[in-house]
Amino acid sequence: MRPGGGGGGFQFSVFSLWLSVARFLLALPSSRLITMSDDELCYCFHVSQRKVVNYIRIHQPRVPSQISECGGAGTGCGWCVPFLRKLFDAALQKGELKLDIDPVEYARERSEYIQRQKQQRAAAQGKVADDVGEKQC
Ligand code: FES
Repeated sequence: MRPGGGGGGFQFSVFSLWLSVARFLLALPSSRLITMSDDELCYCFHVSQRKVVNYIRIHQPRVPSQISECGGAGTGCGWCVPFLRKLFDAALQKGELKLDIDPVEYARERSEYIQRQKQQRAAAQGKVADDVGEKQC
């Protein structure tokens, strides 16, 4: 039997663990206590805002394009690049690494962006086809 007996040691160790966690959290700067969004920031590569913010904090990129090393963020359609840049700029200014975006609105706007790109590509291909047709005549 352990000195002090009766399971009190277990209760004490849980309490001291809890106390250590609380002390750790209180010692962090307030910006680190912000709840980060698990919503996707880069839809092309399924990279969340939380992942990007953690990448920026840990790797401290020198230029915004280095954020692409975080799961390829920003290297697809390009929609998320301005948002990645905003997070980068916030980190440079030691601001809050958080985007105030409505995930539903963000997804809708990204969808419209993709549609516009497809239309522009189709129009460009039509123009090329017209140009080729003119040269052959
Ligand atoms: S949404 Fe990030 S590159 Fe397309």
